[in-house]
Amino acid sequence: MTYQNYLVDVGPDKIALLTVNRPEKRNAMSAEAWRELEHFFAWADQAPEVGMVILTGAGNKAFIAGADLNSLAGRRPADCLKNAAQSALRRIERCAKPVIAAVNSYAFGGGCETAIACDFRVASENAVFALPETGLGIIPGAGGTQRLSRLIGLGRAKDMVLLGRSVSGPEAVRIGLATACVPQEKLLEEARQMAAQMLKRGPLALQMAKHLLQASLSSSEDVGLLMENMAFGALCGTQDKREGVMSFLEKRNPSYQGK
Ligand code: ACO
Repeated sequence: MTYQNYLVDVGPDKIALLTVNRPEKRNAMSAEAWRELEHFFAWADQAPEVGMVILTGAGNKAFIAGADLNSLAGRRPADCLKNAAQSALRRIERCAKPVIAAVNSYAFGGGCETAIACDFRVASENAVFALPETGLGIIPGAGGTQRLSRLIGLGRAKDMVLLGRSVSGPEAVRIGLATACVPQEKLLEEARQMAAQMLKRGPLALQMAKHLLQASLSSSEDVGLLMENMAFGALCGTQDKREGVMSFLEKRNPSYQGK
């Protein structure tokens, strides 16, 4: 798989490492980069060799420094009707495989929005999360006004969006924006450990649980509980469920096939 803006490395452990590869521009995202991101996650969603994705930025100076401000300069209202950034981040959210953002330094604007569309954020100690858009006369346009408040609460989201206040790696953990904060050189190791822990669990169960958790944000409790019960029933018919229960009873580690 070859992209202009990314490096892709899929290991035998089923962990796909996707690296935004434009370090000289602090990994700022062009329209093409958003399209490639969407393409990658559509592929990863279906690829049997991928169980988990880690997304990071090349170099040690930025995760993603936002949308490319050069391409933003000429943006007209009609161009926004097809929002490549929103569409790509929705694809991450809908990807059945869990996605971990390994945030190595600046996650600004669209970079912060990318991180919050992932299932987990692991931050380096020098990470900085910020949504500076209102200072540029625009607003976060890739889900930032919607996803952030659900993650850290309305007050803190307003602090970041309206005041443009930045959040460091350690603070991100305190406010629930990140699950862990580690020295930069340990970041990928930490993300890989998280991924490895999830890879030991039932893959179909993980996929179902991710979809249900996402759906819980927009469905009523009645409908959500019904969907949960239907998904539970579907899982009861899988080899994975038999293997999970039998391995417990036989006091051994499970070997899941995703079937
Ligand atoms: N778009 C386009 N180019 C960028 C961006 C960006 N978002 N961010 C950095 N660059 C480019 C710079 O123009 C510079 O290019 P040059 O070497 O050709 O002059 C290069 O990347 C390095 O940038 P520096 O500012 O020199 O790097 P530094 O490490 O000192 O600072 C930082 C990094 C803090 C991320 C800074 O570049 C910055 O503030 N960038 C803009 C961040 C921003 O406002 N993002 C939100 C965009 S709006 C949105 O996402 C919807």
